[in-house]
Amino acid sequence: MRTLIIYGSNHGCAKKCAELLEGKLKGEVDIVDIRKDVTLDLNIYDKIIIGGSIYMGKIQKEITEVCENYYGNLKDKKVGLYVCCMNEENIEAQIKDNFPEELLFGAVTQGYFGGAFNFKDMNFIERFIIRKVAKSLSKTNEKFKKIDMKKFVDMIERGNIEKFAKAMNSF
Ligand SMILES: Cc1cc2nc3c(=O)[nH]c(=O)nc-3n(C[C@H](O)[C@H](O)[C@H](O)COP(=O)(O)O)c2cc1C
Repeated sequence: MRTLIIYGSNHGCAKKCAELLEGKLKGEVDIVDIRKDVTLDLNIYDKIIIGGSIYMGKIQKEITEVCENYYGNLKDKKVGLYVCCMNEENIEAQIKDNFPEELLFGAVTQGYFGGAFNFKDMNFIERFIIRKVAKSLSKTNEKFKKIDMKKFVDMIERGNIEKFAKAMNSF
């Protein structure tokens, strides 16, 4: 069994999740950064995992394009889909809005892998947005109260990656 993980990541979290997942999957696994590698040969794979991160409600456009342009190949594979983001409250809607319905319906599993804030890698505007969003989210969620913008914030849900890998390995 051969698996391909296709990820899109702006600041490294979805990439890190792809690597954590790789270590838990059975068989041969390849990883592709969709923002760098544009030629894909899906035919040699039995399982395809597609994941990206959410910015202002949207996953990377390259991930959307892969789902749309390769649907013909994807519909005959075991497919797993994941997202990285910080706002878990509306996670089902975020997943639903960012993958085509037919792909989600046919997927073996779908996962929420949490998120990370890599402030050093962000520009001024991104840091400004996070400061505002974290302030608003901290009213309902404790984890956003303690954010230190001088540090790397890791809120990756490793347990969810484990569950996702188990589901993919069961085929
Ligand atoms: C400018 C900006 C906008 C974001 N918008 C959202 C959002 O709409 N919903 C959400 O849940 N998380 C949002 N996030 C959090 C990211 O999804 C999270 O930090 C993710 O782990 C980033 O993944 P990456 O490192 O792979 O790019 C945003 C982060 C930034 C910096």
